[in-house]
Amino acid sequence: MCGIAGYIGKRQASEFLLDALKKLEYRGYDSSGMAVLSEENTLNCVRSIGRINALEEKLKGMKSNGSIGIAHTRWATHGYPSEANAHPHSDCSGNIFVVHNGIIENYKILKEDLIKNGHKFQSNTDTEVIAHLIEERFKGSLEQTLADVLKCIEGAYALAVISKNDPGKIVVAKKSSPLVICIGKNENFIASDSSAVAGYTDKVIYLDDGELGIVTKDDCKIVSIANNNKVHKECCSVDLDVSEIRKNGYEHFLLKEIFEIPEVVKNSTRGRMILDQGLVKLGGLEVLDQDKLRNINRIIIIACGTASLAGFVGEYMLEEYAGIPVEVELGSEFRYRKPIIDSKTAVIAISQSGETADTIASLLEAKRKGALTLGIVNTVGSTISRETEAGVYNHAGPELSVASTKAFVSQIIVLALFTIYLGRTRDMSLVMGKRIIEEIDKLPCLIEETLKNHEQIKSLAAKYSKYKNFLFLGRKYNYPIAREGALKLKEIAYHIHAEGYAGGEMKHGPIAMIDENFPSVFVVPNDSVYEKMWSNMEEIKARRGKIIAITTKGNKNIEDIADDVIYIPKTLEMLTPVLTTTPLHLFAAYMGMEFGFDIDKPRNLAKSVTVE
Ligand code: F6R
Repeated sequence: MCGIAGYIGKRQASEFLLDALKKLEYRGYDSSGMAVLSEENTLNCVRSIGRINALEEKLKGMKSNGSIGIAHTRWATHGYPSEANAHPHSDCSGNIFVVHNGIIENYKILKEDLIKNGHKFQSNTDTEVIAHLIEERFKGSLEQTLADVLKCIEGAYALAVISKNDPGKIVVAKKSSPLVICIGKNENFIASDSSAVAGYTDKVIYLDDGELGIVTKDDCKIVSIANNNKVHKECCSVDLDVSEIRKNGYEHFLLKEIFEIPEVVKNSTRGRMILDQGLVKLGGLEVLDQDKLRNINRIIIIACGTASLAGFVGEYMLEEYAGIPVEVELGSEFRYRKPIIDSKTAVIAISQSGETADTIASLLEAKRKGALTLGIVNTVGSTISRETEAGVYNHAGPELSVASTKAFVSQIIVLALFTIYLGRTRDMSLVMGKRIIEEIDKLPCLIEETLKNHEQIKSLAAKYSKYKNFLFLGRKYNYPIAREGALKLKEIAYHIHAEGYAGGEMKHGPIAMIDENFPSVFVVPNDSVYEKMWSNMEEIKARRGKIIAITTKGNKNIEDIADDVIYIPKTLEMLTPVLTTTPLHLFAAYMGMEFGFDIDKPRNLAKSVTVE
């Protein structure tokens, strides 16, 4: 949610900043901008509405020389997307420029006071108050002024500031929104996440909440905002593969990421399964006192959006095979409840980005209440991975398409591994452990087989794109998948409205809407609830509703009732979601393409939701 980049060193700052913004564009893409401080100590700022290529075009005709600069790609919170509301924002004199990710909650009152003192505002954003506050309080040191200003700011921020009144540095600060300082040779970089510096450096310092960084060409000093004491920070090496953030011949990241899923499953499971012992080895959990883990009697999974739907699949798996009660909670709800938690409760935060604000807030609340906190996270070094006691990385690689696909499947895979890990310390037999591992091992080939249906799914998208509403239905393990199918369709092909429902709930309301113009997508592998779902299909058919069914190869009789059928290979019931998901992700992607949408960046969305 908003991407920040900064550069100080020997290159033309604008070249790095543009490259970094393109890599960060998934975080927000309604407008963008950059400010560069030239060698002659002049500040030039360029802003543009729309995507980064619009900014790039604009930069062609403008002066942007200089080796110090900050840049931003925006996802609007305060103020509609416009050039005036795009960052960087400046003070009245244009001497100070600020980029910001987060929300300044008390900006209105601060703005009123500043206006009374004669400040002139140019935007409707909350961010602009920071530039004016720095202007008002500046006494020669940018870092001291910013620290002073931050003491009266309420809310969340990742900030980068430059000023011609104190040149030669970028001052950054963080509270609840991510920010990294990346260390090069005679040059340093700032970014919302380290993927922005891939190809430049792999040395990263993660700023923590309450810290302020003073970044120069050759140095980086971190201090506490509260007391100005120096903070010693470790510089970590991160594995950043530039090829992973290219489309590699695919028209869209979304399609590339869906077609990568077989490889992702291999990466998520590599070295983690010991077949002959029916055991799973999760290095990230070995730091824990294993008795503590053995003694947990309840799991709460916290996540948002698609990650929460993976959590629901995990709920079925963990209850059925590990025998532990599980609840799945949305981060945005859990944080405001009064949850009953004790030291025997494990709270698992699931997040691709590891930066989702509501998931983090809930996790911290659970930690405060004494829960054992664990993470299933894709982004290495992210806030959730650092705030949890232990966890498991997905190893799905960078996910750049805003809609989560490969990370979702890898979350289900990690939950299956986690089920075996916990189950084998409880009642799960050696035979069952081995059986699940054998089936997980076959999944990459089975997903390849499922992906071969892509042409059929593309033509189904063309056939069904004229419909305005869809109902997605599933039961048990595939109920969350029905919801995921609906979420993806409305997210990527947003001219269509879709709802995901439990098969059995359909006649408690939604059936009223069914007629020949309201198709239903049935997620019906050949499993323990197949017969029940068959009755639901009959009920839809009796109302002349169209049916697209996703079912197991060999279920030929389904062609008697469904208008269209997509076949998936056979697997263990608990793993069917891994195979039923792919056709639904492809269906949503091709539907979006039918409407000519940018399926990597659907309107109004951002990849990493770092505000509440
Ligand atoms: C939907 C989607 C979102 C995310 C949600 C959580 O396709 O991508 O619903 O799943 O915003 O994000 P993470 O997993 O980064 O916490």
